[in-house]
Amino acid sequence: MRVLTGIQPSGVLHLGNYFGSIRQMLRYQGENELFLFIANYHALTSLKDAQALRENTLDAAISFLSLGIDPDKSVFWLQSDVKEVLELYWILSAYTPMGLLERAHSYKDKVAKGISANHALFSYPVLMAADILLYDAEVVPVGKDQVQHVEITRDIAVKFNNDHKNALKIPTFKVDEKVAVVPGTDGAKMSKSYGNTINIFTTLKELKKQTGKIVTDSTPLEEPKEWENCNVYKLCELFMSDDELLELQERYKSGKEGYGHFKATLKDKIWDYFAPAREKREYYLAHKDEVRDILLEGAKKAKKIASAKMEEIREAVGVL
Ligand code: ADP
Ligand code: TRP
Repeated sequence: MRVLTGIQPSGVLHLGNYFGSIRQMLRYQGENELFLFIANYHALTSLKDAQALRENTLDAAISFLSLGIDPDKSVFWLQSDVKEVLELYWILSAYTPMGLLERAHSYKDKVAKGISANHALFSYPVLMAADILLYDAEVVPVGKDQVQHVEITRDIAVKFNNDHKNALKIPTFKVDEKVAVVPGTDGAKMSKSYGNTINIFTTLKELKKQTGKIVTDSTPLEEPKEWENCNVYKLCELFMSDDELLELQERYKSGKEGYGHFKATLKDKIWDYFAPAREKREYYLAHKDEVRDILLEGAKKAKKIASAKMEEIREAVGVL
């Protein structure tokens, strides 16, 4: 099964990104044919600082490689290295009714937030459709906010296929309902827009600060504490085995320790959990040329499929 997804290079990764999305990708990598790319053309709709876009793009590649994306077990590339996607984007635009894009929540939400409406923002879903349809992707794992974009992709593909018999594979989306929402330091959904994140790649000092910010109740140190609804405990669940959690529950009940102790335990767990990834990241940061080469190698694999597909599509629509 061909699984494809794109990631926007949007800066610092946090625990929500890892447990809500990246870990699923790593599973797909073992069990399926994983196609994963960095959506830098999409990022251009919101990021106009060239240096920042360049840096974020490379940084996203470094982070994903460090966290376990293996270029030998997946196709991992940079969207802008396979230009065929832009050709397909244009062709698909001719099969995309305006109404379909006018109904897109993501566009409406961004405009409502005051982001100025440019054409790329409006036609964002068509480029996303091209990303997916160019590679005959079967399954597209996405967060809930991206479901409508995959539905739009399906609608465009059906319209195209009405004229050009089964030229395009109709993809399905997959939202992993099992994945719990990772709480942030204030207990709300962890998100960079809420300033409540605990970041994956950070210094020990910063990690201590971020875990220190986790909101708890004010039960005094010498009283037993409730672990059931505690934000510190909820985050510990992501990192601990059942036995370790039972032990932690005992510590909550004992009335001998305060939240500061549990936060310190959590901090150590997070630090150890990402130690191998941190080491790899250090390596790639010092070998950025190697990262660029990995992306170019991935693009070669992607391009092979993309150029064959484009030949079929040009033939179908009559572009010489
Ligand atoms: P942010 O909210 O910080 O801007 P993004 O929208 O860039 O995060 O999220 C990228 C991916 O990480 C999405 O697939 C999303 O579902 C997942 N994700 C982000 N935050 C969380 C969270 N708190 N819990 C679970 N998954 C999350
Ligand atoms: N729009 C997606 C996001 O913001 C990123 C993306 C671009 C994507 N192209 C894609 C996701 C194709 C899945 C398939 O998260």
